[in-house]
This record gives sequence, structure tokens and C-alpha cells, in this order.
Amino acid sequence: MPYPQERPRRTRRTEALRRLVRETALAPDDLVWPLFAVPGQRVRNAVKSMPGVFQLSVDELTAEAQAGYDAGVRSVILFGVPEAKDPVGSGAYADDGIIPRAVRALKQALPDLLVMTDVCMCEYTDHGHCGVLKPPRAGGPGQDLGVDNDLTLPLLAREAVAHARAGADVVAPSDMMDGRVAAIRQGLDAAGFDEVPILSYAAKFAGAFYGPFRDAAESAPVEGPGIPRDRKGYQMDPANWREALREVALDVAEGADMLMVKPAIPYLDVVRLIRDRFDLPLSAYHVSGEYAMIKAAAERGWIDGERVMLETLLCCRRAGADFILTYGAKDVAGTLTGRRR
Ligand code: PBG
Repeated sequence: MPYPQERPRRTRRTEALRRLVRETALAPDDLVWPLFAVPGQRVRNAVKSMPGVFQLSVDELTAEAQAGYDAGVRSVILFGVPEAKDPVGSGAYADDGIIPRAVRALKQALPDLLVMTDVCMCEYTDHGHCGVLKPPRAGGPGQDLGVDNDLTLPLLAREAVAHARAGADVVAPSDMMDGRVAAIRQGLDAAGFDEVPILSYAAKFAGAFYGPFRDAAESAPVEGPGIPRDRKGYQMDPANWREALREVALDVAEGADMLMVKPAIPYLDVVRLIRDRFDLPLSAYHVSGEYAMIKAAAERGWIDGERVMLETLLCCRRAGADFILTYGAKDVAGTLTGRRR
């Protein structure tokens, strides 16, 4: 073998060299922190399957956001657990609903914090689906009840408007109905919120990684006659990448301002494909199951949880994500800024 001319190890020799040639960086600005708002006061319920994550009443949520802000977190995304659920998810679009209340409190306490809201029905419907169910057929109850796409669209638009009216900086639809970006855009524009951007959960896959979230948001589909058992009728099949590109193309055409792939790590190929073909800002959602796996292994002492988390998020950036939604945002930002709390 001839002596190799190129020796990549030369630029790995010292920390200064490694930093010089580093291609990707992870910064606190790249993180969005999901928070769960619940009714009440002084409520801080630990979510068992997600160590470090809590259901928070609005007062506690504001304090938590402040702690995150102090650590360097500049963006949050809010999920809400309402007082009451019903078949049409009324709590989702009430102007005094849990999310508008949380948004108003946050914007008042932390005007510079970017507040995003998740726009979906699953936390608010008594059946747990991300839209309203089709009316039962004449054949009798318990038949053919899927989620009704077009009945759901105006409700999502109303929800987005309620969030914008409360002061949300960005609305993020996660329901996966067809046409929802256009419906939400029209609703926002008609209500005078033409400057509020839409972050579309463009390629959201139906899979097994959302379990802990459904504990936190109390949003798992309920078992019952005529109620679909899962979300496979609207979220994407994990096997499909071409379809993900079509989903993104549709959302772009409908007016999405930013895109998301969800979950993150098993779907980084999809992140890369979208990054290469579309120029909108792109995010990855490091979801609850992914977070829980790291936490569980770290608790057993099997991995260094902090380092694995940093590496994971960096790899999302390398794959092409501009920003990442992660439950580890406060801790990671604290590590990155040296302001650990
Ligand atoms: C609501 C929604 C879900 C998540 C974000 N928005 C749950 C679901 O689709 O069941 C999952 C987030 C996570 O697992 O961290 N549709």
C-alpha cells in the first residue's frame, strides 16, 4: 500500500483543530421546548414515563418557562389538557381555553420568549382522535367511524385563531388532516393574523414513539365501538419516504412557513431528503419515546444521558434540521451555555 496522501486524522489531533473543522453546531437557539399546560394552580405533576417533564398549571408553567429562559431556551411549544373533553373538542377553540390562558400568561411574563402552540384536537376530544369522527352510517352505530377530514378543518382553523388571538407567535398543526395548512392560513388571514407563521408537522409518522406523550397530554385514543384504535388513518406509514415528500409539497403549496419531521432519529433520512429538496426552515421533533429511551438507559447507568442527548440533537442538525423540538431543551441549553440550573 502506498503511503496515503490524505490523512483525515491530521485535523483531529487537537481540540482546537477539531473545533476549526467542525461542520455542524448545536446552539440553544436551535431548541424548542414542549410544555404541558393543565388547569388549576400550583399543579406540577411529574409524567412518569418522561423523567424531568411535568404537567403544569399556568402559574407553574410560567415559572418553568422562566427557568428555561434563564438557561438559554428561547422557544417553547405548548400542549394543553382541557377541563373537559367532548366529541367535537370544544376546549380546543375556546378563547378562554387552557392554551389561550397559558399563552397570555407567558407573553406577559416573558415577552421575548417565542411561544408556539400545537394545533390539534386529540387532547380535547373524548375519543382521543385528532379530529371529529364521521357521523355513524344508517347501518347502525359502531360502523365505519374514521376521522372526518373536512368536518375537522374549520375546527382546526378556529383553534389556530384562538391561539393567535391570545398572542401565539407560531401555530403548529399536528393533526395530519389533508388541507389543514390552507384552512388554517385562510382562517388566520381572515381574522387579521396574516403575520402569524405556520409550522407544519408535514411528515408525521404513525408509530410507537408517542406513548409517553399521550400520558402527558392524556390524549391516547379511547377504546370503543366505532372508534379507530390508532392514528394510522391519518398519520403516515413509517415505511414511506416518497409520500413524505408529497406531504411536504402539499403543505408548501398550501402556505406552510416552516416544516417538521416527526419522530426524529429513526426518520433522519426523511429530514435529509426534505432538506435537499425544499428551502423552507425545517425542524425535527425528538419525540417522547425517543426522550424516554435515553432517560431510561441513563437512569440505569448504561449510557451517559447528557452526552447521548447532545449527540442526538447534533445529529438532527447534521441531517438538515434547522431546529429541534426536544423535552431536553432546558437541560441541553443549560449545558451549552454553562448556566445549568
Ligand atoms: C398531537 C401530538 C402528538 C405529539 C405531538 N402532537 C401525539 C400523537 O400524535 O399521538 C407527539 C409528541 C411526542 O410524542 O413527543 N397530535
